[in-house]
Amino acid sequence: MNIRIFDTPHEAGVYAAALAEHIIKNRPKPVLGLATGATPIHFYQALVRLHQYGLDLSRVTTINLDEYIGLGPSHEQSYSYFMQKHLFDHTNILPDHIHLPNGIATNLEMECNRYDGIIQKNPIHFQLLGIGVNGHIGFNEPDDLLQSKTHVVRLQLETVKSNARFFNQIEEVPKKAITLGVQAILQSEQIVLMAFGPEKANIVAKSVLGNVRTDVPASILQLHKQVTVVLDRESAKQLVDEYGNLRTELKRMDNS
Ligand code: F6R
Repeated sequence: MNIRIFDTPHEAGVYAAALAEHIIKNRPKPVLGLATGATPIHFYQALVRLHQYGLDLSRVTTINLDEYIGLGPSHEQSYSYFMQKHLFDHTNILPDHIHLPNGIATNLEMECNRYDGIIQKNPIHFQLLGIGVNGHIGFNEPDDLLQSKTHVVRLQLETVKSNARFFNQIEEVPKKAITLGVQAILQSEQIVLMAFGPEKANIVAKSVLGNVRTDVPASILQLHKQVTVVLDRESAKQLVDEYGNLRTELKRMDNS
């Protein structure tokens, strides 16, 4: 794991976008696995800026991690709407190249299979991840087991409470979602996990320094060969010594 700590989320977003740019420029058909929520907004702003300065995204395929069940693309809190607003409306990514789970599909099992088929045809080169305060990646919630394939998940109370910040009231937060499983995440060529703010410090430390455990889903990323953890100073608080330097055991893990 490579750990990169920045003074601000903005700087972190610029760095992560530069990592994506490298893939976009060097692959004939780059596939980006994308996340939503507050964390990746800085990444999208930086990617849009790169596009404005000439980065062509017309060959890019995007595969989003998850979508709320019950929210269609016109709902302002759907992840489809989020992606339009923060990325697709401002770039030349082709509509045919954009993939998100359909949260209003009538047959959810078929929808999960359809999505796995898309991932099979478009292996992910660059997977962007945020992390929940409970350690979830995508919506793979802490549990006795982690599901490999795309599946329907019941969101944990902690996740519903955390996501209530985006809705008028907690009752409006959907209780279920479709999410990529951990297999697709771990099969991506490169993973970039981003986390910002003091509320993520504890779970970041557990995920990076602790054992691999299914009740800390992000810890499974320790098993992947090319993960970059992109943090701000607040979320990295427990990973540094009193001088702000990366703890020794983390320097040894750095494989960049
Ligand atoms: C969203 C997703 C989630 C979020 C996580 C952190 O597509 O997959 O895992 O990344 O809940 O959300 P924020 O960034 O809002 O703290």
